[in-house]
Amino acid sequence: MTTQSQLKKIKWGIIGLGGIANKFASDLLTIEDAELYAVASRSQEKADDFAKKYGATKAYATYEDLANDPNIDAVYIATPHVLHKENALMCLEKGIAVLGEKPFAMNAADVDIMIAKAKEKNVLLMEALWTYFLPHYRYVLNELENKTYGNILKIESDFGFQRPFDTNDRLFNKAVGGGSLLDIGIYPIFASLSTLGMPITITADATFFENGVDASCNMVFNYNDNVEAHLKSSILEVFPTEAIFYCEKGTIKINREFHCPSTVSIIANGQEKVIDFEYDSNIFGYKYETIHFNQLLRDGKKESDIMTFNFSRKLIKLLDDVREIINLKY
Ligand SMILES: NC(=O)c1ccc[n+]([C@@H]2O[C@H](COP(=O)([O-])OP(=O)(O)OC[C@H]3O[C@@H](n4cnc5c(N)ncnc54)[C@H](OP(=O)(O)O)[C@@H]3O)[C@@H](O)[C@H]2O)c1
Repeated sequence: MTTQSQLKKIKWGIIGLGGIANKFASDLLTIEDAELYAVASRSQEKADDFAKKYGATKAYATYEDLANDPNIDAVYIATPHVLHKENALMCLEKGIAVLGEKPFAMNAADVDIMIAKAKEKNVLLMEALWTYFLPHYRYVLNELENKTYGNILKIESDFGFQRPFDTNDRLFNKAVGGGSLLDIGIYPIFASLSTLGMPITITADATFFENGVDASCNMVFNYNDNVEAHLKSSILEVFPTEAIFYCEKGTIKINREFHCPSTVSIIANGQEKVIDFEYDSNIFGYKYETIHFNQLLRDGKKESDIMTFNFSRKLIKLLDDVREIINLKY
């Protein structure tokens, strides 16, 4: 039997060395059958510093140089939203497997182009929606699928934090896809899509900063039998950042912050039971999606059976639909 340490390590590259790239790299170091092989920034100095910090072998001053390295097995794309498509296409063209940050691209048409390229080149491609792979979230999905507490009657989910308005921060910069909906509204939408599927109708409204970036967004997704999902995002206001599934015989509540490693409360028969998933406090939680991706690569798979192309298409379609309602154009 081959043990994990005997397997040839999967050589990872990272494109765009900002906040999330640091967390991803830190978690990658804890995975035995993978290594951070190369990193790419728009600055050589930044790439060198990052490579030194996480022990990467190669540090590139352009994203193209990384894509041209024939030794790379997989690339994690951690650039602002507007670059996801072109960065992914560049790597797929070279036959490199791609794990691309959320939102997968700026719109459904672009996601279709990425999927078509992955199929043409016969290369693995997956959206990095890490929450889908976290044990507490998988537990909740399982309980809902098994209808342990009956059918879902209503969902409430939100994601909100406060950060000073600053157009140097990509979050407030329209040119790179800034705003609450695409950045964090995607998580409450994900909570609804992953449990109830596509809604029949959507209502939504939003508030905007002067530069046209959405500051907050309120959405209601309507399903059959008067089931509703009330979803909110804000970069102006701190929200509980929970996902609550009200079911016929009880309530399942993913506690703050539901999209990260967290606890789950089961409220039934007048009692609350809190389930602790005993996450390792030394990791952020990105290793779960990475372990899944590594296994897909080893198995020669070209598409995830969890974060499927179809799921990514639905997720971006919902973002497109909400954008149309609130008149948010990029
Ligand atoms: N899964 C999650 O939990 C999670 C969390 C946060 C963010 N994200 C996603 O990850 C992506 C990156 O987010 P982040 O928070 O890491 O952003 P960030 O800190 O601003 O980093 C983005 C990096 O992209 C590169 N970049 C290339 N062109 C750029 C431009 N015109 N403006 C700014 N940066 C540019 C920069 O790296 P170089 O200077 O090295 O080229 C920058 O450091 C976003 O799409 C976001 O939705 C996911």
